Amino acid sequence: MSKKIVVVGGCGHVGLPLAMAFADQGCEVISYDLNPAAVSLVNDGKMPFLEPDSEAVMKRIRDAKTFSASTDPAVISQAEVLIVVIGTPVDEHLNPDAEAVPAAVAALGPYLRDGQLLILRSTVYPGVTKLVERRLSKLGHKVDIAFCPERIAEGKAFTELYSLPQIVSGCSEKAVERASEVFSFLTKQLVVTTPEEAELAKLFTNTWRYIKFAAANQFFMIANDYGIDFDKVRNAITFDYPRALDMPGPGFAAGPCLFKDTMQLAAFNNNNFTLGHASMMVNEGLPLYLVSRMEERFELSTLKVGILGMAFKSESDDIRSSLSYKLRRILRFKADEVLCADPYVTDDPTLISQEEVIRQSDVLVIGAPHNVYKGLITKTPVIDVWNLLGNGTVI
Ligand SMILES: NC(=O)c1ccc[n+]([C@@H]2O[C@H](COP(=O)([O-])OP(=O)(O)OC[C@H]3O[C@@H](n4cnc5c(N)ncnc54)[C@H](O)[C@@H]3O)[C@@H](O)[C@H]2O)c1
Repeated sequence: MSKKIVVVGGCGHVGLPLAMAFADQGCEVISYDLNPAAVSLVNDGKMPFLEPDSEAVMKRIRDAKTFSASTDPAVISQAEVLIVVIGTPVDEHLNPDAEAVPAAVAALGPYLRDGQLLILRSTVYPGVTKLVERRLSKLGHKVDIAFCPERIAEGKAFTELYSLPQIVSGCSEKAVERASEVFSFLTKQLVVTTPEEAELAKLFTNTWRYIKFAAANQFFMIANDYGIDFDKVRNAITFDYPRALDMPGPGFAAGPCLFKDTMQLAAFNNNNFTLGHASMMVNEGLPLYLVSRMEERFELSTLKVGILGMAFKSESDDIRSSLSYKLRRILRFKADEVLCADPYVTDDPTLISQEEVIRQSDVLVIGAPHNVYKGLITKTPVIDVWNLLGNGTVI
């Protein structure tokens, strides 16, 4: 039976595709969001960011009239199911904000109705689900509370929302049953855990990936310092060798999730997280490493350096926590001038066209491995840790 769902943070990078997916399954969905510009775009049938396959879904749910967006918190009262998927970043001192989700839920207080199911979906500091339950029950709210973490990757939402198993946890059996029913609209594979297990499962998932990228980046630096092309070493390791097939290549490991979730986990463990902190040093150090190697090859202070790709990953327009910007900051200090381009990024007026960057630069650096750079033909030297151009990764 279809559900009335309100997604809180429903115009964000993961909230919006989720809301649209439920609406596409016939549920009546409202995206509630504090961002009026995003709400207005969404109500005009436009996406505030790139997400492949979103156009067709948006058209279907607009035709079916199962979806809308709103900045009015009164819509909360209309829901049978509330799903909270607001952002949960760490602050400038790398501290998680354990109050982000409880505070957002508290703000919904006047609009909550007894009998609603409240599903937390943001990546939370461990213990937040039970904290939300304690606070709401102290205020006399009779809502079922579940925690069902989001594990999709941006750019794969409309595949992964249906293909990934969903971890479901709740503060009561009823909450688990109700949340399972909700996610059965998207997938038949549910993994039931306690809220604490689910909270750790999500943080471990992202941290695991972050550590793997750090290992690859450190291997790259070791090989490179020895004058060896890591791409060749990696090919030798992974060729027909199943136990190493998941070894990533080197590159900027950045974006709004992996780093901050590793730091959330470190904070949760009283900052005793050697592996997590070491991974941060390696991954966040890669732009510095590249520039120091470039300084050995080039007289940077006399040169114009071009960065191609400012998004935090390939085929994305998302610049949140992108290491290309750290690279730009370092290069602005060292080089004569830094010019940047990205075919997808639309919200940075300092970017210029790719043609202009290539025309003016003395050295180019690939900052995000967009597919379009694979065919790049230029006589200008290119620093390319992803080996997109096929000339090796030695710097
Ligand atoms: N981006 C990803 O790939 C990804 C993947 C899995 C999980 N997550 C997790 O999902 C959560 C959301 O991430 P995101 O990337 O979608 O963030 P986002 O910033 O793109 O979206 C969050 C949305 O919530 C809105 N918002 C903030 N506070 C609100 C409030 N109190 N009431 C209503 N709306 C509010 C914002 O305006 C924004 O539109 C985070 O916890 C993140 O760690 C993200």
